[in-house]
Amino acid sequence: MEETTLVLIKPGGVGRNLIGEITRRIEARQLRVSGLKLVRAERGTVEQHYDEHRERPFFKDVCDYLTSGPIVAMAVTGTNAVKAIRTMMGATNPLEATPGTVRGDLALTIDDNLTHSSSDPEAAARELALWFPEGTV
Ligand code: CMP
Repeated sequence: MEETTLVLIKPGGVGRNLIGEITRRIEARQLRVSGLKLVRAERGTVEQHYDEHRERPFFKDVCDYLTSGPIVAMAVTGTNAVKAIRTMMGATNPLEATPGTVRGDLALTIDDNLTHSSSDPEAAARELALWFPEGTV
């Protein structure tokens, strides 16, 4: 089933010049970039994005981090895109991420795990509305 999901490349990924590498992997998988922007995120946007984690001890740190530098927001469309992207990115903790995944190949710590991607279709719809209120293409 065709789906659209959200990928964020976090400040560490942008700072390490990994925008191209991560996007290359997504496109090579035959998924289509249907929205793309480089932004300095507003704190309010990031807090809304991570609303489900508001009570978690890492909430402040992850919001500080996401607003510490430019990030890429990307909409990705294709067959089963939500699951395909989650699997490609690898486990949240890079130490548990399989080699071959973005995190398993390129990341080492959970605080800088390079990307965020929507966990399920409902989260994708909510997150896409937040980051791409103008819609995707
Ligand atoms: P992300 O997929 O963006 O969702 C929440 C982020 O919080 C997560 O990736 C990690 O970068 C960060 N984080 C830090 N500590 C934890 C933790 N213990 N569990 C989950 N996420 C964490």
